[in-house]
Amino acid sequence: MSPRAFVLGVLCVLSPVPVPVPAHTHTLSLDGKWTLTNSNASLSLPAQVPGSVHTALQQQGYIQDPYFRFNDVSYRWIAFENWTYAVTFPGSQLRDRQKVLLVLDGVDTVSTVTLNGMVVGKTDNMFRRYDVSVRDRLQDGDNELKVHLLSPVLYASERRNAHSAYRVPPECPPDVQRGECHVNFVRKEQSSFSWDWGPSFPTMGLWRVRVEAFDVLQLSRVSSVALFNSSLSQWTVQVQLVVDVVLKTRGQITLSIPELHTENTFSTQLVPGETRLSFSVHVNTSSQVRLWWPHGHGEQPFYRLLVRGSQDGVLILSTESKVYFRSVELVQEPIVGSPGLSFYFRINGKPVFLKGSNWIPAHSFQDRVTPAVLRNLLQSAVDANMNALRVWGGGVYEQDLFYDICDELGVMVWQDFMFACAMYPTEDDFLQTVREEVVQQVRRLASHPSVIIWSGNNENEAALATDWFNIPASQRPTYVKDYVTLYVDNIRAIVQQEDQTRPFLVSSPTNGAESEQEGWVASNPYDPLYGDTHFYSYVQDCWDWRTFPRTRFASEYGFQSWPSFSTLQPVSIKEDWSYDSDFTSHRQHHEGGNQQMLQQAALHFHLPSSTQASSRFTHTLYITQVMQAQCVKTQTEFYRRSRSEIIEGKGHTMGALYWQLNDIWQAPSWSSLEFGGKWKMLHYFAQDFFAAVLPVGFEDDDTLLVYAVSDLSQDLQLRAVVTVFSWADLDPACTLKSDPLLVPGGSAVPIFKQPVAALLAGCGRCTRLTCLLTFHLEDDRGQQGPTNHHFLCSPKDAEGLQRPNITAKVQQEETGYSVTLRSASVAPFVWLDVGAVPGRFSSNGFLMLSRNRTLTFSAWRPTSVEELSRSLTVTSLTDVY
Ligand SMILES: *[C@@H]1O[C@H](CO)[C@@H](O)[C@H](O)[C@H]1NC(C)=O
Ligand SMILES: *[C@@H]1O[C@H](CO)[C@@H](O)[C@H](O)[C@H]1NC(C)=O
Ligand SMILES: *[C@@H]1O[C@H](CO)[C@@H](O)[C@H](O)[C@H]1NC(C)=O
Ligand SMILES: *[C@@H]1O[C@H](CO)[C@@H](O)[C@H](O)[C@H]1NC(C)=O
Ligand SMILES: *[C@@H]1O[C@H](CO)[C@@H](O)[C@H](O)[C@H]1NC(C)=O
Ligand SMILES: *[C@@H]1O[C@H](CO)[C@@H](O)[C@H](O)[C@H]1NC(C)=O
Repeated sequence: MSPRAFVLGVLCVLSPVPVPVPAHTHTLSLDGKWTLTNSNASLSLPAQVPGSVHTALQQQGYIQDPYFRFNDVSYRWIAFENWTYAVTFPGSQLRDRQKVLLVLDGVDTVSTVTLNGMVVGKTDNMFRRYDVSVRDRLQDGDNELKVHLLSPVLYASERRNAHSAYRVPPECPPDVQRGECHVNFVRKEQSSFSWDWGPSFPTMGLWRVRVEAFDVLQLSRVSSVALFNSSLSQWTVQVQLVVDVVLKTRGQITLSIPELHTENTFSTQLVPGETRLSFSVHVNTSSQVRLWWPHGHGEQPFYRLLVRGSQDGVLILSTESKVYFRSVELVQEPIVGSPGLSFYFRINGKPVFLKGSNWIPAHSFQDRVTPAVLRNLLQSAVDANMNALRVWGGGVYEQDLFYDICDELGVMVWQDFMFACAMYPTEDDFLQTVREEVVQQVRRLASHPSVIIWSGNNENEAALATDWFNIPASQRPTYVKDYVTLYVDNIRAIVQQEDQTRPFLVSSPTNGAESEQEGWVASNPYDPLYGDTHFYSYVQDCWDWRTFPRTRFASEYGFQSWPSFSTLQPVSIKEDWSYDSDFTSHRQHHEGGNQQMLQQAALHFHLPSSTQASSRFTHTLYITQVMQAQCVKTQTEFYRRSRSEIIEGKGHTMGALYWQLNDIWQAPSWSSLEFGGKWKMLHYFAQDFFAAVLPVGFEDDDTLLVYAVSDLSQDLQLRAVVTVFSWADLDPACTLKSDPLLVPGGSAVPIFKQPVAALLAGCGRCTRLTCLLTFHLEDDRGQQGPTNHHFLCSPKDAEGLQRPNITAKVQQEETGYSVTLRSASVAPFVWLDVGAVPGRFSSNGFLMLSRNRTLTFSAWRPTSVEELSRSLTVTSLTDVY
């Protein structure tokens, strides 16, 4: 639902009897062609709105693709200039109305707005909408509107200099990021000054601009949230209307939800100015309300809410929006056998394990994030069995469509406020603009059932607690005070006033209720006994689950990999295509990242050794993806199997959101989706490790354990089937089955246990080096969930593994394309790649233990058997040796 800009218009549909209608709002969109000029007017060019300076320069041929090779550095000058957007529009029809508003629905970021040469407004926050009353400034003929944007880099530096009392770290990003300084002084996408996965493009631009002219009043926003009262077992729908009233009047507002036979009429006094009207509608208790559920737990139904307003029998407003019914609780309570507190979400009364990832901006230039881009990325998330995403606090509050799609797909959103990895100033004007930002964003997003929690910032509690910025002990109280002022006294207070339907956390990671006890900054916000944790370790062996914290909720963890060659190719040239090229190190924004990937991969795999440079490069990209997929799989499976256990006080893990879902450009990062949407091996693995029913295998003290994990509502009677294969043979060496066991809905239980030595001894000539295991779960109806595997040694040590000589045949099927593979032997990490043909396979990166296997390819644009056959390459582990 887009709650913005309701226009009086579609009246007859909603109103049974024709009634007189006042003239509706006259809206003049100023989206389209503007003129853009730099500081000294040496450059002047047409520019699209919505748009940004970089995009306009590229479209007019002044610059190349900003993502090409080293262009982020070449085009640094753009953000040091001031730029002016200008447009003219006719004023005659607008001036006839009693009120005329200039609506700037997004200005990036610092600007002075002039109309016919007079200053009418100033902006300093890209996360706010600015409404400026301009009727008296309009002329009958052409009116000239200008938005003078100030260099955000210059502004940040000026603000920092004005804050002379004490520094507000981190000041500048690490050199390896090639970024700009003091981004924490500007209310702007924090990662736009560079991040450890993204370039520095301190953007400037305009989002949507329009002029609205009206008489009497206009409705500018409708939002509705449903609150469940469990003691009355009754739903109350809280509806808020924001109206801009010109003349004092009395009116009648009627709210109805026809499908629930609910209709209420309120009499209300309307006074001039922007007024927020709040109404509560109790839902007829005899109605069986259909609830909104997360993906995998049920459907995502909504109800139509009709809003009508009349004055003396004249209809003065009429609109329609959606109401969803879902409740959310964040449960933090004592756990038997544990010193800490639980930390999990209950949706509609049911504990739900959050499975998913973290979302970052999908492009440096937000105007490039099209509806198709959003839909593709979010569809890929649910196709990998995710039910949750955290909209990370260093990016942007996403556009309405993002949340609309999440509502529709059942993706739960953990919504951060946009503060990340830094201390922030608390001057009055900074707090004022933040307060307005928070009010606007909460009102904009509150109607979305997908949003299940607000969170104040990313990692700033941890940054203070564990002293990332070397703050002298004597000065610490100043920073703690600023922290509490910003996130607790301001942001939290506003959110709690505006929205009683969702929990609020001050930070992530945090100890939640325990952090509050400790004065909002816990001594160790990473404590696995409380709240959520973030955990990264690149040097420890990721195949060893003992290295992972057994946390209540893992909201960040991950490993880097490189995107595929087809993603890098359009932004690079031949000399860039080696792992030690300048390009390869330029795109790596995490200190030591390229080496860490190889170091981790080398623990279990031979590193690519081809003497041919181009294969060595593509094989290295491949091996980093194998490493990443295997590492995140191991860690995620550890979290999922820890759902029902308390061991040494730790466990009851109820969330696994790995870092990160998507990419902002073509570079190495922790993402599972490449820039452009191509699935990395990790994303294919996620499809399995986030499956509703999953067998997890691991070793503890040389004993093999298999857990049955189920997110279903109903109980299952499952048995584990463990099959032993020799690396040298496609026919199984032996198969073992456990007795059937009751696996309750929403649980993880051990289902198979046997010492590895005994298991192998009972299976011919198997040793740890010559054999491997697969396992699955089954009941009377057959296999439940995917087949999983467990390696008994590192693949680099496996004995008997041969080159599989895989052949592939592409065919056209009724519903798409199929690829049939044939293999002569066991093949680990079989990877199909069709280069730049967009789409995805039904499965990929798999362990091939059969002579034949048929997959499907879903193309995201028309293609052909010829194109696919020509583009297809098949790689498996031994190919890189
Ligand atoms: C305008 O500014 C640009 C960039 O600073 C500079 O290269 C150019 O020489 C200036 N042009 C004039 C006419 O001053
Ligand atoms: C941009 O505007 C600021 C403030 O007016 C000024 O100090 C600065 O010199 C301008 N930058 C350029 C490149 O002209
Ligand atoms: C639920 O209704 C009862 C009875 O009217 C009231 O006392 C209680 O405060 C309500 N609970 C909530 C959460 O609104
Ligand atoms: C409640 O719903 C029933 C039908 O389900 C309807 O007959 C009744 O009038 C409704 N009550 C109210 C107060 O709207
Ligand atoms: C794959 O082909 C090579 C070369 O023809 C051959 O030596 C090898 O035995 C084949 N592998 C299998 C598993 O058949
Ligand atoms: C594999 O495919 C070949 C050729 O289509 C066929 O002859 C053979 O029976 C298949 N094997 C299995 C195990 O399906």
